[in-house]
Amino acid sequence: MKENTYILAIESSCDETAASVVMDGRTVLSNVISSQIALHTLYGGVVPEIASRKHIEKINQVIETALSEAGKTLEDMDAIAVTYGPGLVGALLVGVAEAKAIAYASGKPLVGVHHIEGHIAANFIENKDLEPPFICLVVSGGHTHLVVVKDYGEFEILGRTRDDAAGEAFDKVARAIGLGYPGGPKIDKVSKEGNPNAIVFPKAKVEGAIYDFSFSGLKSSVLNYLNHAKMMGETVNEADLAASFQKAVVDVLVDHAILAAKEYGFDKLAIAGGVASNSCLRAGMAAACEKHGIQFYYPSPIFCTDNAAMIGCAAYYEYKKGVRHGWDLNAVPNLKLGER
Ligand code: KG4
Ligand code: ZN
Repeated sequence: MKENTYILAIESSCDETAASVVMDGRTVLSNVISSQIALHTLYGGVVPEIASRKHIEKINQVIETALSEAGKTLEDMDAIAVTYGPGLVGALLVGVAEAKAIAYASGKPLVGVHHIEGHIAANFIENKDLEPPFICLVVSGGHTHLVVVKDYGEFEILGRTRDDAAGEAFDKVARAIGLGYPGGPKIDKVSKEGNPNAIVFPKAKVEGAIYDFSFSGLKSSVLNYLNHAKMMGETVNEADLAASFQKAVVDVLVDHAILAAKEYGFDKLAIAGGVASNSCLRAGMAAACEKHGIQFYYPSPIFCTDNAAMIGCAAYYEYKKGVRHGWDLNAVPNLKLGER
């Protein structure tokens, strides 16, 4: 009997071309990421057509490297996994077409994975003891969700953003301050030099939906602050502004996540997605969890931002359940969490 399950996972939903070999869901044998950030920086954000073209150029090389770094061949794989949504349609299609071609040619099963389920699963990679159920705050460039992870691949959404995603707010505010793209890491860095209490920004509450988020008002407040300073001929302390904005976002994220954990009686809380690598969020959530006796889980930064290891991890639990996709698997740019 074969002892281990090996999955070759592919991720191309946005601006990273990534492939990984994952053993038994939680052991990452390789995690290759070809980032297009430098290219998109020239345009101040991701240009979808350029992203698709770059994925096509890089994907074969990235997959070959993932297999060779893992010391494995395609024949060793039990399944081919791929992100099929949500994301940029042209970018997703490159990964989906590649995975289908490899699976078909090698006679291996195909497992389509939800990108956000992948982000959540990233927590399983380094936390071998973590099992559902738990609360997870998903904060990425396109999504902000507070969910109960009821079981592997089973979610209940408690709250979501009504407007901008948390990462989107970071990116837009960074652009306004003049820090450039991608904004999240830049704000995180410059905030370390600033005073988070220098400017008090509003922390939006959504009427009648205590777990929902809204970041567009905060973004407008930052823009108003900048415009006012410009009109008055005052210089803006960028570090103070960035740190105060970051604090306003983090305070709301922490408050909602802790409230949900307490209300629903969970003593395990995880964070996921690109913004989960934010140092202020990690420190703030760690302190709040400690105060409330909640065990806090978080992936290493490399597993927070887009990668294929998290897709391989999520795919493993789907594969074990018997999930197999056909040759008609298509990219679904607006795929909802929990939707199959
Ligand atoms: O999860 P991700 O890599 O891609 C999506 O699925 O969207 O998240 C990217 C987002 C971007 O908005 C980026 O600015 C943000 O995550 N991000 C951060 C940090 N690192 C990445 N935001 C705040 N602090 C960071 N250190
Ligand atoms: Zn992502």
